[in-house]
Amino acid sequence: MREQRVLILGGTGGMGLATAKTLSANNFEVVIAGRNKEKLISASKALGDHSSFSVFDASNESELKSALIQHRGVDHIIVAISANANARGINNTLEMEARKAFERFWTSYNVLHLAPEYMNRNGSVTLLSGSSAKTPLRGYGVWGTLHGSINALVKQAAIDIAPIRVNAVSPGGIGINTDRQLTEHKGQVEDIADMIYAVIKNPAVTATIIDVDGGERLGTWNG
Ligand SMILES: NC(=O)c1ccc[n+]([C@@H]2O[C@H](COP(=O)([O-])OP(=O)(O)OC[C@H]3O[C@@H](n4cnc5c(N)ncnc54)[C@H](OP(=O)(O)O)[C@@H]3O)[C@@H](O)[C@H]2O)c1
Repeated sequence: MREQRVLILGGTGGMGLATAKTLSANNFEVVIAGRNKEKLISASKALGDHSSFSVFDASNESELKSALIQHRGVDHIIVAISANANARGINNTLEMEARKAFERFWTSYNVLHLAPEYMNRNGSVTLLSGSSAKTPLRGYGVWGTLHGSINALVKQAAIDIAPIRVNAVSPGGIGINTDRQLTEHKGQVEDIADMIYAVIKNPAVTATIIDVDGGERLGTWNG
């Protein structure tokens, strides 16, 4: 018997898939979710026996609700979906593109709104934020605002849906822009996976945003 069940929204991509591998290797029953069935089949093969997949669009409320009903009793939910938006600064990003970026916020919101009815009340929801939340930077206005909103959501939701724990891991420069970090070690998706594992295992961690960015949030690379 596997220890606990976890549903990973965005389980075929970089951080979500790395998290699925880490959790599967550590005795969790893992369900990965995404919109593309082929990607899910191939990712599932890499995970082995104690994993399965679920095809749905997490940004669609009725699909998300059906999936939560299907996976009723799940212990932990991780929201690792990406946002396909051409977003930069507030001065040069159209509202339409900014709204696409904010789909990640609304999907996270909806998970926190809907999931308590279906998941283990001693479980957890973990979101992905981003280092730009803490350092306002030219050219990152939409992402900084999105990540700041996710950080605010974590703390409020941790109160509103307690005792379910709510946290975010905040990456920076993972796989991209690795020259922005203070550490010699350059951030990898496995670093995020290891932290998500630590967060969901630890019953005392809630309402917390954990930076895993090699210090990128300090903005020293920006001069
Ligand atoms: N790299 C960094 O340092 C950094 C910093 C801050 C924040 N982040 C954020 O961290 C998140 C994860 O990044 P990543 O590079 O691991 O992403 P990725 O490789 O692009 O993977 C994204 C995953 O989300 C799934 N997905 C996207 N939209 C979905 C939807 N509506 N419903 C269900 N699944 C959906 C994708 O599968 P399908 O396409 O098949 O649906 C895929 O499995 C992103 O939001 C990114 O912006 C990254």
